[in-house]
Amino acid sequence: MKDVLIMGIESSCDETSVAIVKNGREVLSNVINSQIKIHEEYGGVVPEIASRCHTEVINKIMKEALEEAKVTLDDIDAIAVTHGPGLVGALLVGVSYAKGLSYVTGKPLIPVNHIEGHIAGNYLTHNDLKPPFLCLIISGGHTHLVKVTDYNDFEILGKTRDDAVGEAFDKVARVVGLGYPGGPKVDNLAKEGKPNIKLPVTHFDNLDFSFSGIKTAVINLNHKDPNINKADLCASFQAAVTEMLTSNVIKAIKEFDTDKIVIAGGVSRNSYIRKSFDDLANELNIKVYYPEPILCTDNAAMIAAMGYYNYINEEKADLKLNAIPNLKIGE
Ligand code: KG4
Ligand code: ZN
Repeated sequence: MKDVLIMGIESSCDETSVAIVKNGREVLSNVINSQIKIHEEYGGVVPEIASRCHTEVINKIMKEALEEAKVTLDDIDAIAVTHGPGLVGALLVGVSYAKGLSYVTGKPLIPVNHIEGHIAGNYLTHNDLKPPFLCLIISGGHTHLVKVTDYNDFEILGKTRDDAVGEAFDKVARVVGLGYPGGPKVDNLAKEGKPNIKLPVTHFDNLDFSFSGIKTAVINLNHKDPNINKADLCASFQAAVTEMLTSNVIKAIKEFDTDKIVIAGGVSRNSYIRKSFDDLANELNIKVYYPEPILCTDNAAMIAAMGYYNYINEEKADLKLNAIPNLKIGE
């Protein structure tokens, strides 16, 4: 069979990225321009600035992606783009750019759901990974436990009732004075501390999650005693969050009798969460998969990988494609 080359375009938040992926599994290039340095001084992503930055760099990033992959636009079979969920202005930059490129080249335009893209990041790291599996998506904007029955078939089993995990990490980091982006900073400081502070973990009858109680407890403790050991506080926060995540995954494993757990999204870079799931895998004799670190956080290779499966499933869009900020998984 002829190789299929997909160009992926991602601009849903603060990373502008273009990638070329072969047959949904092999990354030929994955150029990422992060705006972290620009948003750092505001303590979080400023949507208007994000859109402007995407506009300034997207064409240059696209050319770099082709050059690095040693291919031309003629070699590309289809153009896949994130059309939601995300910041509407940021999404529109990628969507408009992809539509223009599709129009001038005559190549099919493939819409990709950003959350489904995070799952597909795992196909690039684990060439043998195939559905069905259970997937835990933990990112800055989303926390979902999903049954992935097939490449394009998703069933949400549980989701957060309040904050996303990454959002809680970022808020805790800001409150204890670590700055933005918080996740990696909490991860590092926690390595110097002990999880010796008891924090409230809410368990539901179903597979839903909640993180705002844990986050608020951390904020209150820090407020009450500004000299509290920050490393211990971060370690305790991570331990409570991880208990919430692992307890639901254990419940889901029992309910769905599966031995394959796939973790995806920016927070899956967290060293403590990875270690905890590795321990769980040993204990329960199951397999746990994570994307390699660069494919955990936002990037276009994961969008091209998901785009490949949408392409072979003939999920194409026309030039009416719009950005959908609150797009749900499976839609
Ligand atoms: O998936 P992602 O790049 O963007 C969304 O789709 O939301 O995730 C970004 C999130 C941020 O909240 C960031 O703080 C978090 O992932 N993150 C981490 C780590 N690295 C990134 N959280 C905990 N530990 C990390 N090492
Ligand atoms: Zn993301």
